[in-house]
Amino acid sequence: MRSVIPDYLTEALGDVEPDTSGEPAGYIPELAAADPERLGAVFATVDGEVYGAGDIDTEFTIQSISKPFTYALALADRGFDPVLAKVGVEPSGEAFNQISLESDTGRPLNPMINAGAITAHSLAGSEDMNPAERVERVVHGLSAFAGRRLKIDEAVCASEMEHAHRNLAIAHMLRSHSILTEDPRAVVDGYTRQCSVLVTARDLAMMAATLANRGVNPLSGEQVIREPVVRQVLSVMFTCGMYDAAGDWATQVGIPAKSGVAGGLIGALPGQIGIATFSPRLDPHGNSVRGVSLFERFSSDMGLHVM
Ligand code: DON
Repeated sequence: MRSVIPDYLTEALGDVEPDTSGEPAGYIPELAAADPERLGAVFATVDGEVYGAGDIDTEFTIQSISKPFTYALALADRGFDPVLAKVGVEPSGEAFNQISLESDTGRPLNPMINAGAITAHSLAGSEDMNPAERVERVVHGLSAFAGRRLKIDEAVCASEMEHAHRNLAIAHMLRSHSILTEDPRAVVDGYTRQCSVLVTARDLAMMAATLANRGVNPLSGEQVIREPVVRQVLSVMFTCGMYDAAGDWATQVGIPAKSGVAGGLIGALPGQIGIATFSPRLDPHGNSVRGVSLFERFSSDMGLHVM
């Protein structure tokens, strides 16, 4: 029997297509030049079925969607206690690039904001790795979630580094509190490389499906991370993944999720499905306008809210 899902996805994309509100991220020329009309959505089930419509094989940079996966790698590589000692799990209710450190310890509130994500990057891999080895650990790990070897967009990365003053300031603050123990510039460079990994909506859906499938990539069968790590990551995505829109998202959509400034958006429903959308125009929180609309619709049409 032919699946009705592709028709459903095509119809959903058609319904959000007229919405041209928001703007692609404008802080670097490479992102500002993104084709704002790109639009795609993919469902990847835990048993390996993949359904998509629209621009599902167009590459764009993963940006902040790398954060939950790198947090997972840090937890897997270092263990819970050393990571929790340096990055909290409390929603900040602030924008992704706010400093949001605990006043007494300097510990970033959570791993989804930049301060926490920069710290999580420094905790991926083993302590004795040099910066290039750490980046390779992260790219290798993100690739295992996606089920194919991913690569870095060097042009986006170089441009991001030229505009990384705020992330550098955050990293220096973290170094002053000894949350970072390495050269802040090298850590920001590694974090920026991590954000510049190229993915498609299809890749993102597989990465989300790997989280939904208890850490096992549904197509490759590889156990990328263990279940306790998956639970930790999905919990933090649920409470912090959409930054200062996290409460609205939790009540209205109710799916653990993460957005990125290049227009990607993922959701992972444990035991069921990974979902990814791609549309570059962003709302004031830095979340994809059409992506948010699509997720609201998917959640309501299919009863995906976890409550
Ligand atoms: O750290 C930054 O500024 C970017 N490279 C990533 C930010 C991002 O994707 C925020 N999410 N919506």
